[in-house]
Amino acid sequence: MKKRFIVANWKSNKNSQEAKGWLVGISNFQFPISNEKEVIICPPFTLLSTLRTAIDEKSMPVKLGAQNISPFAQGAYTGEINAAQAREFAEYVLIGHSERRTHFAETDEMLVAKVKQALAVGLEPIFCIQSDQTAIPDGVTIVAYEPIEAIGSGHPDTPDDAAAVAQAVKEKYPSVTAVLYGGSVKADNVQDFTSVPSIDGVLVGGASLDAEEWDEIITNA
Ligand code: PGA
Repeated sequence: MKKRFIVANWKSNKNSQEAKGWLVGISNFQFPISNEKEVIICPPFTLLSTLRTAIDEKSMPVKLGAQNISPFAQGAYTGEINAAQAREFAEYVLIGHSERRTHFAETDEMLVAKVKQALAVGLEPIFCIQSDQTAIPDGVTIVAYEPIEAIGSGHPDTPDDAAAVAQAVKEKYPSVTAVLYGGSVKADNVQDFTSVPSIDGVLVGGASLDAEEWDEIITNA
């Protein structure tokens, strides 16, 4: 069976108490998760350390991702977290999410710089695209297709549309080995996407915040 990436994007949600409660909730996870499922949690920066410690202590088969990084290396960039700082805690990083493009004016040029920063320190980018026309920087191997109208709307794209985009991206960018789908994925529709041969996993926002729902998403994926 193909490997599936199951990625939680917590966005700007949860404080440390809430994160600890969520971790208690997922202690019901049926470990070990099958090798074919790469489970990745992307919390806010403030929670990366807490989750890293918990995952290591309990040897949970879960990876961590940052939700963003600076386009610059270390230095005089007030307020920024650079790739090497994120790499202390995380294996992956989301780059180019539509919310960052829309609310924080991230340009294609900045995203190329972020991908370079990530790759230089061994942080694997999960590069978000909004259509098969979105430019994908060199070096990216994992892409998440997230049509804007499907995000947080309760109206996911159809598996057929998502499959067509995944196929088109893989043909246009032979270095891309995995295309995930994101946008209103929940426990009861995750399999509609993960069962499609050209779709290699899911990026889940809202539904990942609830430990029980997340547990079910992993089981069903
Ligand atoms: P959603 O968000 O699952 O809440 O639609 C997905 C995302 O934006 O990554």
